[in-house]
Parts: sequence; structure tokens; C-alpha cells
Amino acid sequence: MTDRFGRNITYLRLSVTELCNLRCRYCMPQEGVCKKSHADMLTEDEIIQAVEAAASLGITKLRITGGEPLVKKNIVSICRRAAAVAGIREVCVTTNAVLLPKLAKPLREAGVRRLNLSLDTLNPEKYAYITRTGDISAFWAGFHAAMEAGFEKIKINAVLVGGFNDDEIVPLAELTKQYPVDMRFIEMMPMYDSGDFDSSAYIPYTRVLEKLPEVVPVMPDGGVAKLYRLPDAQGNIGLISPVSAHFCGDCNRIRLTADGKVKPCLHSDVEYALKGLDFAGMRAQLEKAIWNKPAWHGDLDAIHRSQAGRNMNQIGG
Ligand code: GTP
Ligand code: 5AD
Ligand code: SF4
Repeated sequence: MTDRFGRNITYLRLSVTELCNLRCRYCMPQEGVCKKSHADMLTEDEIIQAVEAAASLGITKLRITGGEPLVKKNIVSICRRAAAVAGIREVCVTTNAVLLPKLAKPLREAGVRRLNLSLDTLNPEKYAYITRTGDISAFWAGFHAAMEAGFEKIKINAVLVGGFNDDEIVPLAELTKQYPVDMRFIEMMPMYDSGDFDSSAYIPYTRVLEKLPEVVPVMPDGGVAKLYRLPDAQGNIGLISPVSAHFCGDCNRIRLTADGKVKPCLHSDVEYALKGLDFAGMRAQLEKAIWNKPAWHGDLDAIHRSQAGRNMNQIGG
């Protein structure tokens, strides 16, 4: 279905939980989330019905997110059932990788085609700092399990944080020489309650290009990243610039939160509730959400924070 501005909406980001086994500083508060009542969350059957309703409106791609989607006990079943919905051509997952040693193979067998993994630094102490609780060796164990499980594509996401990881742009980018993966650098988005970063922490994607003068541009793959490649690399460098150069004009996405709210835009507080509705009710709400998708998300920077009214773990990115 197209929205009022003629954008064809084909991609649903489906958050299955707000919970996470890490506490990344730009994503969620230290104390985690106040656990919502189980009764407020979509059940597995409701999630699948929502996917069916979305597919009936032209959604063909699903990206499962969180929080951390792999902490959800029935994640493999959700992925398997979602991948089997008529009209859904592709199911992908974004994860911090920590639980992949156990889950990479079952997810692949359930029909998940592609994975995006989060890694902001190569330094164990800095990883422990940015995630507040994480152990980088758990990331690498998950990464290698994913590589062995035969996914069609693996991308690594690093959120750019000035003064924290801008000195690691070159070694992170060089992972694309060592492994057949894409490395993406994402401008940090200022969320509702996502850490006390001062303006120097918000660095533009152009900083990456300054550090990698030898990259050559590559044709876009339909995603939100501008693509480049290092000589002799096996994968691309992706630059995602929601802050310095928004891509709202080409946006093909809507979002569904774990508590059953359709968000037509990541940074708007307008939400359409699906909890408890039947197929026709869900379809009507999704239709309204797509039609009312805003033209763009408004200014974002250290002063103009996201209007989403939620942290990233409560939306799924
Ligand atoms: P693919 O294109 O399928 O690889 O997915 P993706 O890059 O959109 O997904 P991923 O979950 O890896 O998200 C990467 C980053 O892009 C995260 O920081 C998201 O918050 C951000 N992002 C994804 N979609 C949007 C969007 O529509 N608007 C904005 N502003 N940011 C987005
Ligand atoms: N700004 C940009 N990206 C973010 N992510 C989480 N919080 C933010 C933020 N404030 C990223 C994660 C993950 C993806 C789903 O979103 O690092 O890779
Ligand atoms: Fe968890 Fe991902 Fe948020 Fe980090 S960015 S706290 S891994 S949901």
C-alpha cells in the first residue's frame, strides 16, 4: 500500500520484546525497563495475525527486532510462522549476537535469511563500557556461529559515538576485508532517555568518509545506508545518516512494537493499537497508520530529541 506521499510501504519492523540482555548507553537506561504486564504484550498468535494483516496490505519484508529479540523464549517459532505467511518474502533479524551460539542454526532453519549484528567497538573494555554489562567474547562467539549457520547476508552495525569509537573507524571498516560482511556506521539518534551524550558525541557520517579516503561508492541495495567499499574487501561499508541527512522521502517502513502499537514513524509518538483486535481490526489500524505516515521526522540533534516518547529498545530501531 502507498501512503499519502506516494511511498510504497513494503517493510515491517517487528519488535518482539522490550527486554535485553545488554544495556547499551544510547539505547536504554541502566536500570533496564520497567517490565510491562504480560497481558499488555502481543501474544505469538497476535503477532502472526498482525503479520498476516500487514502482508495483505503489501508488506513483503519483515525485520524482527527488540530489545533483544533472542531473549524471547518463542523466537524461533515466531520466525518460522512469520516466514510462512503468504506474501512475506524475507524475514531478517537484528540482534546483539550474544545468544547466537545456541540460536543461529535454529533461526536459519526457521527461514531467517539475513542477520544484522550490533558491535560498536573492537576493544573489550570499551565494549563492556558501552553495553554497561557485555562481554565482547560473547559477541564473537555469536558472530562465528552466525557465519557457520549459512545466512545469506550478515551486516555489523556500529553506532557512531564521538570521543568513543571514532578512533576505531578504520579497524572496524577493515572487518570487511577479513570477513564477507557489511560494516555499517549509524549516526546516533537522540532518544527519549538514552544517555547523557553532549553534542560532540553526535558525529556525522562524513567523519567515516574522512577516515576512509580510499573507499569507492557502490550502488545502493534498497536499504537506508549509503554504500561504499574498501579495495580488496569482501563486503560493503554502509553509512546510515538519520541525523545529518535524513532518508524519510524514501522510507518504506512501518513498525510494530512489542506492546502492539503500530508506529508509522520511528520518531513520532503517533501510534495505532492492535492488541486484542481480530484480523479485520488489525488490518484497518495498519491501513490508517500507513496512510497517516508523516512526511519526515523533524529535526534531530543533541537539542532536538526524538519525539517518539520511547527509548530505542521499546521501538526496535
Ligand atoms: P536492512 O536494510 O534490512 O539491512 O535493515 P536496517 O539497516 O534498516 O536494519 P537495522 O535493524 O540493522 O537498523 C540499522 C539502523 O538503522 C538502526 O540504528 C535503526 O534504528 C536505523 N533505522 C532503520 N530504519 C530506520 C528508519 O526508518 N528511520 C531511521 N531514522 N532510522 C532507521
Ligand atoms: N541511535 C542509533 N542507533 C541505535 N541503535 C540503538 N539505539 C540507537 C540510537 N540511539 C541501534 C543498535 C542496533 C540497531 C537496531 O539500532 O545498535 O544495531
Ligand atoms: Fe540491547 Fe540492542 Fe539496545 Fe544494546 S542496542 S541495549 S543490544 S536492544
